[in-house]
Amino acid sequence: MNVLLCVSSGIAIYKTVDLASRLRKMGHDLKVVMTPKAAELVSPSVFSAVGGCPVYVDEEDVKDGWIAHTEISRWADVLVVAPATANTIAKIAHGFADNILTLTVLAYNKKEKILVPTMNARMYENPIFLENLEKLKNAGWFVVEPEEGHLACGEVGKGRYPDNEKIVEAIHVLTTPKKLFGKKVLVTAGPTRERIDDVRFITNASSGKMGYALATVAKRMGARVCLISGPTHLAPPHFVDEFVRVESADEMYQEVMKRFEDVDLVIMNAAVGDYKPKERFQGKLKKDSPELTLHLVRTRDILRELGERKTKQVLVGFAAEVENFEENARKKILEKNLDFIVVNDARKTLGSETAEVWVFGREGLLERIEEGDKISVAHRVLDLVVASLGGER
Ligand code: CTP
Repeated sequence: MNVLLCVSSGIAIYKTVDLASRLRKMGHDLKVVMTPKAAELVSPSVFSAVGGCPVYVDEEDVKDGWIAHTEISRWADVLVVAPATANTIAKIAHGFADNILTLTVLAYNKKEKILVPTMNARMYENPIFLENLEKLKNAGWFVVEPEEGHLACGEVGKGRYPDNEKIVEAIHVLTTPKKLFGKKVLVTAGPTRERIDDVRFITNASSGKMGYALATVAKRMGARVCLISGPTHLAPPHFVDEFVRVESADEMYQEVMKRFEDVDLVIMNAAVGDYKPKERFQGKLKKDSPELTLHLVRTRDILRELGERKTKQVLVGFAAEVENFEENARKKILEKNLDFIVVNDARKTLGSETAEVWVFGREGLLERIEEGDKISVAHRVLDLVVASLGGER
């Protein structure tokens, strides 16, 4: 994809150098335009070397009939202004064209455009600035909001340059076909914890990565996404609409049931604990006997209950199997009244960075998805599911 990085003179500009590097590593073709002031902060040759790309600073850059701002804006599939200073934002909002960046932005007429405002917190709260920002949002700009924290001026507040990972994700959100547009998707992820006493619990090795990948990709595909997650070490995926943390199977049950009626698709990826201690001890159990027997009772099977209650909802279950994939998949689809089941090989999947899965529908095996990173696998799983939601495949 052709990515046009437009750099204005925010002090966070050094972080944008890393963004250029990431975009290059991802295989994008890059071009950079910089305001003259930005070029005083970081030499254009740094961007050129790191991004492996041409950098344009001079608005008079007309060579042999080649007019930089019109050619570059035509070339780009997606345009990112980062960092975007209050001054540059004001100029864009009012149609100014007084340097190569503003000229190029004015000449760009596609809808894939991202703004990364970074500045002092008081500037960020200024109503004039907010009016300009609102104007750009209404004009279709995707704004990656700044973070709160320590600012270069020594103050603390909103205005920090966000993680480059978030900007990269914004590019995915803007450029992925919207196969789930208008759909509401509920994803569960991670393990659950069933408390024995105040400091001990029973859990499993699920990392949550597959569920987080599914939520991320559903968002990219245009769905409204709620992710309900058991305890994991992962940060909430960028841009999901609702993120709910739970601990136990019972809590997950409550949170899923609250939302079920209103959603179109449920993906139960969580490794919900099947058993929980019959009683929870207060405080910390003392080791005052040579043996300890824990009585476990079954948790409620959330997916089974969803299968009983479902009306319009499409249900996707996950299963970890070691043998008889097809037979077990068929059985679970029927028993739990599912539309799809995604089977993992239990011996290698939990906690891994990659996945290899078998997707079954009610008629049998739909596809064996080759081992790949979890985002790619999530993409393929959702592509298969989309067809059943009345979208394109
Ligand atoms: N599930 C659930 N509630 C539970 C247990 C499981 O909703 N209390 C869901 C999981 O999220 C998953 C599917 O059911 O989507 C897993 O089905 P299950 O029959 O538990 O399969 P396995 O975990 O593979 O267990 P088993 O060893 O019984 O085959």
